Amino acid sequence: MARRRLNSSNSPEAELPKAKLNRQTLNNISRLLSYIRPYRGKFIAALVFLFLSSLVGLAFPSFIGALIDTAQGKHSNGILPATIKGILILAFIVLFLQAIVSFCRILWFVNVAERSLADIRRDTYFKLITLPMNFFSNRRVGELNSRISADLSQIQDTLTTTIAEMIRQTVLLIGGIAFMAIISVKLAIALLILVPPLIIVALLFGRFIRKISREAQDKLAESNTIIEETLQGIANVKAFVNEAFEASRYGKNIREVADIAIKGAKYRGIFVSFIVLCLFGAIVALVGYGSILVSHHELKVGQLIQFALYSTFVGSAMGSFPDLYANLQKAVGASERVLEILDEHGEAVSIREIDNIINQKIEGNLSFSNVVFAYPSRPEMEVLKEVSFDAARGQKVAIVGPSGSGKSTMAALILQFYHPQSGTILFDGKPASEFTLTDIRNQVAIVPQDVLLFGGSILENIAYGKLSASKDEIIQAAQRANAHQFIMSFPEGYETIVGERGVKLSGGQRQRIAIARALLKNPSILILDEATSSLDSESERLVQEALEELMKNRTSVIIAHRLSTIREADKIIVLEKGQIIESGSHQELLTNKQGLYRYLSGLQFESQI
Ligand SMILES: Nc1ncnc2c1ncn2[C@@H]1O[C@H](COP(=O)(O)OP(=O)(O)OP(=O)(O)O)[C@@H](O)[C@H]1O
Ligand SMILES: [Mg+2]
Repeated sequence: MARRRLNSSNSPEAELPKAKLNRQTLNNISRLLSYIRPYRGKFIAALVFLFLSSLVGLAFPSFIGALIDTAQGKHSNGILPATIKGILILAFIVLFLQAIVSFCRILWFVNVAERSLADIRRDTYFKLITLPMNFFSNRRVGELNSRISADLSQIQDTLTTTIAEMIRQTVLLIGGIAFMAIISVKLAIALLILVPPLIIVALLFGRFIRKISREAQDKLAESNTIIEETLQGIANVKAFVNEAFEASRYGKNIREVADIAIKGAKYRGIFVSFIVLCLFGAIVALVGYGSILVSHHELKVGQLIQFALYSTFVGSAMGSFPDLYANLQKAVGASERVLEILDEHGEAVSIREIDNIINQKIEGNLSFSNVVFAYPSRPEMEVLKEVSFDAARGQKVAIVGPSGSGKSTMAALILQFYHPQSGTILFDGKPASEFTLTDIRNQVAIVPQDVLLFGGSILENIAYGKLSASKDEIIQAAQRANAHQFIMSFPEGYETIVGERGVKLSGGQRQRIAIARALLKNPSILILDEATSSLDSESERLVQEALEELMKNRTSVIIAHRLSTIREADKIIVLEKGQIIESGSHQELLTNKQGLYRYLSGLQFESQI
């Protein structure tokens, strides 16, 4: 259900929420507009040209009116030449200038908008990836994604067209009314009485129709989700023989889409008929009134035509404002959401330096001292309660305990994804806060519970541990991780594409890639969050060997599900509901007959027989 909602709000046609325009929101927009500052010269030039070209646009009805009146031997205007030839030459010169000015202003507007938008996009993305983990646990990825795509596209629209159109239409509206009033005050008043009510009715109608078409789009998005879900889970559909169920679900949905669309067409038909009737009615009425004025010699024919042309300017300007205003509102809403990200506090991570340089070396001593922790999203639930332990340099410390006891959480705390509410995590006896975030993360590696491979080659995926690694280094790491053999069994070897669109690797293979990645990184402290899914004994042996190799010469924290893998650990910590209830070596823990460890290892021993 969550995915469905997400999908419909993600479709590009879905309307973005609007925001109210007030001082605060305009302030926000102006903050985003500050991205234009580096390109302000061009922007101002574009504005001036826009203003000029709109003004010049107003001259054309006058040319046409003057041509007609001159043809009838009535020279009307003192400003324009008295001959047809003269008017034509002037008109073409103006047209030519207009063409150049229009070209420049469009080019410049788009130039400024695209460049500043690229800057905003880059900054938003940089900000996003440096935000603390907690930010992501409260939000859906789809939502964040839509900020970078839909919201910024809305802002882009506003920068490239809406602002320009608003200025142009304002000039046309005011100029048009002024010229009309000069030609004939009576006609101008008649027009201003007729047109605005028409526009209001048309708008209300238009909004209603848009609502219906949005309904149809939402329904369509819903049916697309059905396709997506069933195709992704096609194995489930088949295994449960639910083809008929899915087909009827989809069929029902798609019928509804058609019904809504047909309903929409009915109203659109009424709308078009209405517009044709009223608009042409108004024009006929106006021209009729104008003709009466002409027959009374209050107006010349050329002037009447000139007036009619201006009235189309004024009418279309009035008609365009509501849409432009709605666009502006959407852009304000979009910029608020983008600014929300830009205003978040990011982690102190440099996004400019690609090579990860270590400034303060960590030897590998790790301690937890009375660590109390609750996830910020669920502050009332303490996940870790007064956890203390020491891991000396080079030691292997294993953490075991039931699912949900807080083991992966401890790993997240070591990596500084979150910070304890009280207590301290120490590296080499110094609190974590005395190290920079990058120094810690550069010297701690994790082989996570669920290994994520990026879309790309195996080579690139291993190199993620050290971007500057040479191919030889990468292959060496893969060999030590027991991964070389299976990689070479693919026809393309290290160039094999993995991830969503590539070869699917098995759980054990993915783990060995992750181990190679960690080997390449060569950390002082290693965290292994063992996968819960069990491997067959051959893969387990390969992974186990790779892990032994990886754990050499460094401090290792092993979160283990298979107790067989940790018999050799220097220390085993048993965690239950966020508390350490036992700790010691394998032998020591087994002597405690009531202990959880003995109970757990008894269970695993039995299941192995
Ligand atoms: N991002 C999070 N936000 C809120 N609560 C979380 C978050 N991650 C984990 N938890 C909660 O914290 C508790 C400990 O989770 P954790 O992942 O550390 O367990 P675990 O010991 O690793 O379990 P498993 O053996 O199944 O991997 C659980 O109750 C879990 O619901
Ligand atoms: Mg876990």
